[in-house]
Amino acid sequence: MALTEARRDSGPRSQAKGPRSIAILGSTGSVGCNTIDVVERYPNDYRVDALTAHSNVDRLIEQALRLKPRFAAIGIETLYGKLKDGLAGSGIVAAAGRAAVIEAASRPSDWVMSAIVGAAGLEPTLAAVRRGAMVGLANKETLVCAGSLVMKAVADHGATLVPVDSEHSAIFQVFDFDQKDQIEKIILTASGGPFRTKTAEQMLAMTPEQAVAHPNWSMGAKISVDSATMMNKGLELIEAYHLFGLPEERIEILVHPQSVIHSMVSYLDGSVLAQLGTPDMRTPIAYALAYPARMATPGKRLDLGMIGQLTFEAPDPVRFPALRITRAALKAGGGAPTILNAANEVAVQSFLSRAIGFLDIARVVEETVGVLNDTAIGTLDDILALDAQARRTAGDLVRKVMAAQ
Ligand SMILES: NC(=O)c1ccc[n+]([C@@H]2O[C@H](COP(=O)([O-])OP(=O)(O)OC[C@H]3O[C@@H](n4cnc5c(N)ncnc54)[C@H](OP(=O)(O)O)[C@@H]3O)[C@@H](O)[C@H]2O)c1
Repeated sequence: MALTEARRDSGPRSQAKGPRSIAILGSTGSVGCNTIDVVERYPNDYRVDALTAHSNVDRLIEQALRLKPRFAAIGIETLYGKLKDGLAGSGIVAAAGRAAVIEAASRPSDWVMSAIVGAAGLEPTLAAVRRGAMVGLANKETLVCAGSLVMKAVADHGATLVPVDSEHSAIFQVFDFDQKDQIEKIILTASGGPFRTKTAEQMLAMTPEQAVAHPNWSMGAKISVDSATMMNKGLELIEAYHLFGLPEERIEILVHPQSVIHSMVSYLDGSVLAQLGTPDMRTPIAYALAYPARMATPGKRLDLGMIGQLTFEAPDPVRFPALRITRAALKAGGGAPTILNAANEVAVQSFLSRAIGFLDIARVVEETVGVLNDTAIGTLDDILALDAQARRTAGDLVRKVMAAQ
């Protein structure tokens, strides 16, 4: 079942006899913990089969002992002993390494939450897609670095992708896949991040602590920095391009600082359909988990009377060059988005470790795309090789920036 057909399907949950079995990839992260928060409220509807983490072995052990999955995997191999000891006597199988994380996705669960951060989520997500699972997709980098490959695998293997990113969840809820020719454009809303009103000069001195302090959402460090540079919206543009199949010029970005309207779809008769809600990731997570039904979530309800005013403004491509860079990479096609994604991961990590400044992030990304730009990709191996090459190039550029400081 392809994404577009998913809207018409009654879905596994409504057909399933017992609880839906689920795997949570990246269970120790922000989306992973929110997913657990939702799942734990419905013990009769969901049974956790597998959990994965990368470095946070203590949290993984605590989650596993509470949720009792059959399988728990930690990405860093040297943490295997600690995980095994922590789960001793529980009957939960402990495993470690990249292959173990992929194995968690390959096990026959009904539903998989893809919430690993970065391109590290690609292979596990692809493993779930290739066995025809229903996948709740938070890990946008998977579609940025390998969108065509992943969407083809979704179609070939009858998998279902339900977006978890709040903007794409919003679009998914109001996008008429049966009448796609009647859709003029998608309008992706953006909060503008913590530096929306800062001048370029002020941004020059911004610290990692300031960059991760998002005004509306509480999220992992990487996506928080991406929101501050607005690279996040650029990555979401590429994600939307693959999920909804509209050309880049029909995907608009609009800054909406209150994060109440999560995105919109504009139809040719002038109607604009939107999904609204408080900024709480448990809503799009619950939507994907229960799809095509709906389930109750505990979050604060939207009170527009209290909010009073919703405001909108055009994004500033000068202070936020990431928007221009991502559009250019999407237009260039081929390996450009893969390179962009890898370079951004390196640059963000370098900023978080204080090796480069905030404004250097976009520069490193743009230069890396420029250096490697003419690359075609086809297979997963091509993509992984290009991702590695882009990381080396971006790393060299980071060292150049450091040397010049
Ligand atoms: N947070 C949000 O509200 C939000 C909203 C929309 C979309 N998203 C997307 O959802 C994804 C997750 O975001 P997040 O904010 O939840 O990130 P996060 O808090 O940093 O969590 C990332 C998760 O991935 C695991 N991980 C990190 N590196 C890994 C690797 N190399 N191999 C396997 N697992 C690895 C982490 O494990 P350890 O903690 O054990 O190291 C953690 O469980 C991102 O793609 C993000 O863009 C997030």
